[in-house]
Amino acid sequence: MRNARITGIGRHVPPKVVTNDELSQVIDTTDDWIQQRTGIRERRYSEGSVGAADMGADAAREALAKAGRRADEMDCVIFATLSPDYEMPSSACVLQDRLGISGMPAFDVRNQCSGFLYSLATANALVKSGRCNRVLVVGGEVHSTGIDITTRGRDVAVIFGDGAAAAVVEPCDDPQRGILATVLHAEGKFAEKLWLECAASRSRPRLTEEMVASEMPRVFPRMEGRYVFKHAVERCTEVINEVLAKTGYTPDDISLLVPHQANLRINQMVALGFSWPEEKVVNNIQRYGNTTAASIPLALYEAIADGRVHEGDLVCLAGFGAGFTWGAILIRW
Ligand code: ACO
Repeated sequence: MRNARITGIGRHVPPKVVTNDELSQVIDTTDDWIQQRTGIRERRYSEGSVGAADMGADAAREALAKAGRRADEMDCVIFATLSPDYEMPSSACVLQDRLGISGMPAFDVRNQCSGFLYSLATANALVKSGRCNRVLVVGGEVHSTGIDITTRGRDVAVIFGDGAAAAVVEPCDDPQRGILATVLHAEGKFAEKLWLECAASRSRPRLTEEMVASEMPRVFPRMEGRYVFKHAVERCTEVINEVLAKTGYTPDDISLLVPHQANLRINQMVALGFSWPEEKVVNNIQRYGNTTAASIPLALYEAIADGRVHEGDLVCLAGFGAGFTWGAILIRW
């Protein structure tokens, strides 16, 4: 069976920068608190009616240009997001329209911080099996319109930012290169540890004044931060070992880890567990916060731009998020 590989990658980050000091003007927080607990210095917020698919389209155009492909050459479009443009239809369909393409299948993956890993693993399976030759995978989030930017919601509000990134996935004839292994997991019993409860189909009616007006409004994401933190470190470490075991490589063989950017401390603890030096792990949460489905491709994009990814390198992508869901993908670049 042939392998699949990423042939082009692009990104879009909104121009508006929001620093910790700016947030502390509207939230009871400080630059020190945010940096110490999360590593974040600033994040980007989109403005006006820019949706996830608008940013995703910009990222996709760059990825397509880098791959030397036209949008209408894609056999499938996968859009990973927890903040879709609309409840329906999918942001993948909206993205198709933004790119002026139609006909090929297009669907969303709603798997939060693991969304890009789930989407890339799906693209890999489609290409490997011969079902598709070219898949466009996009991760995009507009968090700024959906978080509680007040003291009440400060634990969640300070960590999220907006952004998008995209990758083109195509076949690769060399069996030693491209995506070598993928591992995905989920554990739904933890759904309520990190969730956005309302508006929801199980509520009748879906949206009530109580949901909006209660002391901890159920219309904003909520989480048990410490619980999530602990699980993130443990599951990420496990899943990196698991993807390595599938291929026979060891932690020392990895050239670069590109982890989800949820909290700098999570990534530092994972690196410490493997005794990896700082330069072996890509971190850009300092400038973007947690962009969820966009965070791994955004970090990969910057690692490539910074000359940190070389042909032949063994690159590991890994992440953990709501669900809980988590996974890892090993790529020979
Ligand atoms: N500024 C100042 N103080 C704050 C803030 C803030 N922004 N947020 C919370 N606090 C306060 C709390 O009220 C609490 O005060 P108290 O001791 O008087 O009660 C104190 O700080 C400690 O609060 P904790 O929630 O225990 O803080 P913690 O050290 O756990 O840090 C954080 C919070 C940064 C959210 C951390 O728990 C974390 O990063 N968790 C993991 C997040 C994650 O990985 N999410 C997964 C991906 S997201 C996804 O999938 C959608």
